[in-house]
Formats: sequence, C-alpha cells, structure tokens
Amino acid sequence: MTPSPAGLVNLFSPEAVADPMGTYERLRARHGPVAPVLLADDLPAWLVLGYRENLEVARTATRFTRDSRVWNLAREGRVPAGSPLLPVTEWKPVVRFAEGGEHRRLRTAINESLARFNRRGLRRHVTRYAGELIDGFCAAGRADLVPRFVQHLPMLVLARLIGIPGHAAPGLARATQDLMVGARTAVASNEHIVACLRDVVADKRAAPAGDLASWLLAHPIGLSDPEVVQNLRVTLVIANETTVALIASTLRMMLTDPRFRASLAGGHMTLPDAVEQILWDEPPFRTLVGRWATADTELGGQKIKAGDMMLLGLAAGNADPAIRPDLAAPLLGNRSHLSFGGGAHECPGQDISRAIAEVGIDTLFLRLPDLDLAVPEDELGWNAAWVTRHLATLPVTFTPRRPEPAARPGPARPRPPLDGCPSRGPGPSAWPSASPRPASRVASLIRLLAPHLR
Ligand code: HEM
Repeated sequence: MTPSPAGLVNLFSPEAVADPMGTYERLRARHGPVAPVLLADDLPAWLVLGYRENLEVARTATRFTRDSRVWNLAREGRVPAGSPLLPVTEWKPVVRFAEGGEHRRLRTAINESLARFNRRGLRRHVTRYAGELIDGFCAAGRADLVPRFVQHLPMLVLARLIGIPGHAAPGLARATQDLMVGARTAVASNEHIVACLRDVVADKRAAPAGDLASWLLAHPIGLSDPEVVQNLRVTLVIANETTVALIASTLRMMLTDPRFRASLAGGHMTLPDAVEQILWDEPPFRTLVGRWATADTELGGQKIKAGDMMLLGLAAGNADPAIRPDLAAPLLGNRSHLSFGGGAHECPGQDISRAIAEVGIDTLFLRLPDLDLAVPEDELGWNAAWVTRHLATLPVTFTPRRPEPAARPGPARPRPPLDGCPSRGPGPSAWPSASPRPASRVASLIRLLAPHLR
C-alpha cells in the first residue's frame, strides 16, 4: 500500500483501486470495524467496514446525516476547487442530500411515481432492447459483451422508463459513466445530462405521457420543473452505472465460476439467486459517500468529530466475518446485503435493476445458449474507480445465429443521431410496443445451459 504522510491508506491510490477487497481486509485487521482513510488530495474520512456499523450509520439520521453542508473540511475551505470529490459531495436540493420533511416529500413523489410502472411492461421493454442489441452481433459468432450489450441495455430501458428519446441513450450512458469515475470531462457530461433532462421535462409538461418524468410532474406533492430535472438526474446517474456493473459481474460469474455453473445446472441456484450473490460479493457501489456526523460521537471504537465524512463500506460490510464467517457458503437469495444502502435513503429502484439484470441475461442465454468466454478470466479488463469497479471487457464466442427482428412486431425504429437530446426527437410514446414474452424463464435457461455446462 502506498504510504501516506500520516501512514494512512489512500483509497485513491492505484493499489487500493486495483485491490479493494484486500485493502478493506487489511484495514479491518488494523483498525477494526471503522478505519481512518485518506481520499483525493489526502483529505481524511472514515471508512465503515463492519456490517452492523454500516447499518447504524445508514439508519441513524440524527447522528449521521446525508446533508453534506455539515462537512467540516468543506466549511474550513480545505476541499480544492477541482477535487473529484465535489461531484458526489456538493450539496444540491435533491433527494440524495435531503433529510427529514424535505426528504419525505421528495421520496414520496419518487416512490409513488416508480410504483406506477407496470412490472410486466418493464420486463417486455428489457426483452425487446436486449433482443435488438443481440441482433447487432449474433451473426458474428463472437462479441465483446460489455460494449455491445451490457453498457447499453440499462440506459435504453431507463430512458424508456423516464421518458427520454431512445436515440439519446448512448450519449447519456457515456456521460453517466464519466460522472461515476470522476473523469476530467465530468462537468461537461453533467451539463449534457441536465440539458437533456430539461428538454424532456419541458416536453412532458406540454404533453404528458406514461413515464417517470410525466408522473413526477403530475404528482400532487407539487414538484417544480427544476426539482424534477435534478431528481431525474440523480436517478439516472445512480441507476445506470450500477445496473451495468450488476449485469457485467453476473455474466462473468455465469461464464467463469464452476461452482455457479454446477449449482445452476443442478437446479440449486436460480438466476435471481446469482444476482443476489453478486450483490453480496461485488456490490456495484463498493463504497458510498454516504453520511456526515452531526456531532462528536463514537462508532466502532473510533472517536468521530462533528462534520467528519463517513464512507459506507458496502463491499466490506457485506464481507464482514461477524456476519459471514465463511464467504464461500452460498446465500441462495438472501437479500439482507448492504448493496442498496439502508435507512430512509435505501435505494427505491432496486427491483427495477433486478428486473433489468435478470430479464436481460435470461434473453441473452436464450438466444445464445452456448456462450463461452473467449479469453482467460485474468485477461479481462476492468473499469475501476474508488467507488465502483466493473468489467470493461467480456469477449465471448458462440454459434452464429440469425438476427430475429421478426420476433418483435411493429415498424423498425428510425435511427436518429446517437448523441444529444433534441427537444422534439422521436419520443418513447411513439415507439412500437414490445411483444409479451414469459416473465421468468430461469427453468428454460438452466435447460439451455445444461449441455454447455457439462
Ligand atoms: C444495481 C443497481 C442499483 C444499485 C446497486 C443502487 C444502489 C443505491 C444506493 C447504495 C443508494 C444510496 C442509499 C443510501 O444512501 O443509503 C441508492 C439510492 C438511490 N437509488 Fe439506487 N441503485 C441501483 C439502481 C437504481 C435504479 C434502477 C433506480 C431508479 C430507477 C435507482 C434510484 C435511486 C434513487 C432515486 C436513490 C436516492 C434515494 C434517496 O436518497 O432517498 N437506483 N441506490
């Protein structure tokens, strides 16, 4: 580990980014369930490693708040202007930073609007977009699944749900990735997302449709247009990269882990079980810039000062030996992991992400049942940053198949330019509807995988 001036581990160091789990275990051994760490520009924070301690921080808003305006380092002017921490810490009037009555107001509008989605409709959209993406490479017999499939599917579905024109999805997917990894282009990418969502909200104000943007605008709680834009921005940024990471990790596990293959083929593990296992072992947010101490307090034997930043160590908490003495023991659908956070801010979109991952993977294996990894596992590339880490490549081979556009009724969607979000693009309400397909086909997946798994 790169030694820091104070002898503390810097989570931005190349070693910590390359080996997050090893880093967490070394910190746990040295400091216990709560460890002092350094971030960019050697700014100090507390990394919460214990499962119980993570829940305590997430669930006790009176001691640990989401309101980043109490951050002592920012108040003392110690955060440099170009700090990569700013995009995730700078307070904005959105659900992520709100507490108390204001948080309840925004969460009610978001929860009730998300609840209006028809779950079967969601699964149909996922099946449709997954099918379109697979048609783009299935005749070739080989493809890199990350750039051809995984990186596009969540944004296509999320764009449809939110009410964003489909042609804007690739540009938005790239922009949200920029924000999550704290790239130099993050500010421009953020502006692109906001400009796109402003157009969408203006369109939906004039002509409401059956989508999240329209439902938020119409919600009786009375959100203003800028509030809807900003809360949709938060939703999009959180939802896309995390769901990309979940799909990539689950696919990798299905293609490489012999224990998983054996369990799936033997009927001991279902696809939803596999997704949950990944949420335990490789949470899309390894750490979450989560809370700030409201007053001097104590946690895990450490003395925390008022205004200190608490990083929720979701991956470390999920692997805490206090709750998982044997990491290899199968969890078979247990959902009590920390991957969706906890307390009043717990992720409201978790079932949507599960549906995108499960139906997307199900569709892929139904169309290409003999998928095989094309390179040794240790040659797979990774996109790693201090909060997230997911595969950058997943090259596979398979028996070439014909595209199946006829299986999806309706006229072909026009192909507008890929980037941008013009105010009058071909909106989702104009898209052809997808053909209904069975909601869950895990049994057929197992049957189709079986010859390949022998
Ligand atoms: C695998 C996919 C996903 C993961 C791992 C994930 C994880 C998280 C986490 C860890 C939080 C913070 C919770 C906390 O502070 O305690 C969060 C918040 C949030 N997520 Fe997700 N999320 C995912 C997908 C989604 C989707 C699909 C949506 C919506 C369609 C969504 C919408 C949100 C929103 C709006 C918040 C802010 C909630 C609040 O502050 O009250 N997420 N998510």
